[in-house]
Amino acid sequence: MRPWTFPIALQGPSEAGARDPLFQQIAQAIRSDIRRGRLKPGDALPGSRSLAQTLGVHRNTVLAAYRELEAEGWTTTGQRATHVAADLPEAPARRGRREQGPGYDLEMPHPAPARLSLRDAPPHRLLFGGGLPDLRLVPTDLLARAYRRALKVPSLLGYGDARGEPRLRTALAHLLSETRGLSVSAEQVLVASGSQGALDLVARNLLKPGDRVAVEDPGYPAAWATLRASGATLLPLPVDAAGLRVEALEAALREGPVRAIYLTPHHQFPTTVTMNAARRLRLLEVARRHRIALLEDDYDNEFHYEGRPVLPLASNDPGGVVIYLGTLSKILAPGLRIGFLTGPQALINALGARRAASEGQGDHAIQRVAAELLEDGLLQRHARKMRRTYLARRGTLAASLEKHLHGVVHFEVPPGGMSLWLQVDPGLDADRWAERAERQGVTIYTGRRFDFRGQARPNLRLGFSSLNERELEEAVGRLARALP
Ligand SMILES: Cc1ncc(COP(=O)(O)O)c(C=O)c1O
Repeated sequence: MRPWTFPIALQGPSEAGARDPLFQQIAQAIRSDIRRGRLKPGDALPGSRSLAQTLGVHRNTVLAAYRELEAEGWTTTGQRATHVAADLPEAPARRGRREQGPGYDLEMPHPAPARLSLRDAPPHRLLFGGGLPDLRLVPTDLLARAYRRALKVPSLLGYGDARGEPRLRTALAHLLSETRGLSVSAEQVLVASGSQGALDLVARNLLKPGDRVAVEDPGYPAAWATLRASGATLLPLPVDAAGLRVEALEAALREGPVRAIYLTPHHQFPTTVTMNAARRLRLLEVARRHRIALLEDDYDNEFHYEGRPVLPLASNDPGGVVIYLGTLSKILAPGLRIGFLTGPQALINALGARRAASEGQGDHAIQRVAAELLEDGLLQRHARKMRRTYLARRGTLAASLEKHLHGVVHFEVPPGGMSLWLQVDPGLDADRWAERAERQGVTIYTGRRFDFRGQARPNLRLGFSSLNERELEEAVGRLARALP
C-alpha cells in the first residue's frame, strides 16, 4: 500500500495571506507531516516529477523543496528516491492527531461486560461462554448462496423500510405464530440489529431519564447497559426456582411507579429456570394494573429438549403490556445482527421512525437471506439439527461434571437453553477457580458476572453449545485440575 497521498493546498501569490514562495510551502507541509507523525522515518516521498504534476507546479519547485528538507536533516536522498530520515532533527509529536482527546465534553456510557470473542482467544483455549452457538456449524454455504442471490436484487441494495425487509417481517410473523403462539401480522414485526438493537429502540422510545425499570438479579448485564443508557434507574428483583419473584415487584411498586420490566421468562438468564404458570399470570395482572411494559426476551426458545417449549408471556397478553424481543443470534449467528420485536402497531411505527432517524435501516440483503431460509424451512431444519447436537452436548457436559467434579458442583439439568447453571460448593471461591482455570486454558463465567451489584456468587454458568463433546470433556478435566 502506498503510505502517503499528498494533500497540500498551495496558496498562489494573489491569495490573501500567501507570502511564502511555493517551494517553501511544500517543504513546510512535509515538515509538518513529519512532526505530526503522519510521515514516519523511512517513508518514501513521491517522486519529484509526479508530485510536481499533482500540485501543478514546475518540477524545479519540488526539487528545491526537497533540497531544503534534506539540508535541514528531515529527509535523505538515495539513488532512486527521497525518504524521511531515520534520525530526525527533532522528535515527532508523540500523540498523533487521531489520538488526541476530544475538544468537547464526552459522556461515557455505562459499559456492558465484554463478550467472548473467538478472534481474541489464543489457540487451544476452551471458551465455555454463556450460551453461544457453535460458529463452526453455521450453514455458511447456504448463507453464501442466498446472499449472492440477494445481492443481485437491486432494490435490496438501496434504501428500504426502516422497520425491516418486508419478506423477513412476513416470515418472522409466520414463525412466531407457528412456534410461539403469537398472533401478529408482518406489520407488527420490526427487524433490528440483534435483540440488543431492538431493546435499545424500545428503551429510547419508552423511557425518560429517572424512570424505574426492574430487571432480574442475577440477570443479563448487556440489557442493563442498554437500559441505563436511556437514563433508566434499574431496580434489581430476585429470581428463584420459579423465575422472577413477583412479590418483590409488588413491594417495589409500593415505593413508586415502575415503567418497565426486562425479563427472560422461558430460560431465565443466567439461572436457566422457567417461570411457572402462577407467576406468569400474576405478573401479567400486576403489569396490566400498573401499566408496566414487560420487555420479554425470548432469546433461545428454539433449544428446548424436554416436553413442549413454554409459550411466551406475549402469547397470552390480554392487557397488551408485553413487548416481545427475539433473535436469530442463537439459531444462526450473532454476528449477522438479526433481531426483532413485536408489539402494537403504533409502537412498531414509532420505533421504525426512530430507526430511520438513527441507523436508517439494517442490511436488507442479509435480511432477505434469512427470509428465504425461513420460507424454505431450511433455517428450521438447521435449528432441529443444532437442537440434536446441543442435546448431546448437554448430556456430555452433565456427565463429565458428575465424573470429575462430583460433590464440588451441584446442578439440575435444565429442560432447555444452551448452558448449565452450577452451584459451587460453599467452601470454594468460584472467582479464584475461574482465574486458575484461565491459566489452564479454560474460560468460564462465574456468578459475579451476572450479579447486579457485581458481588461474588457461588455459581458458574457453563455454556455447552459452542464446544464439541471432546472439547467439553477436555474442558471439564482442566477445570478439575484447576480446583483451588
Ligand atoms: C439473554 C440474552 N438475550 C439476547 C441475546 C441475543 O442478543 P442479540 O440478538 O443482540 O445478539 C443473548 C445472547 O447472548 C442473551 O444471552
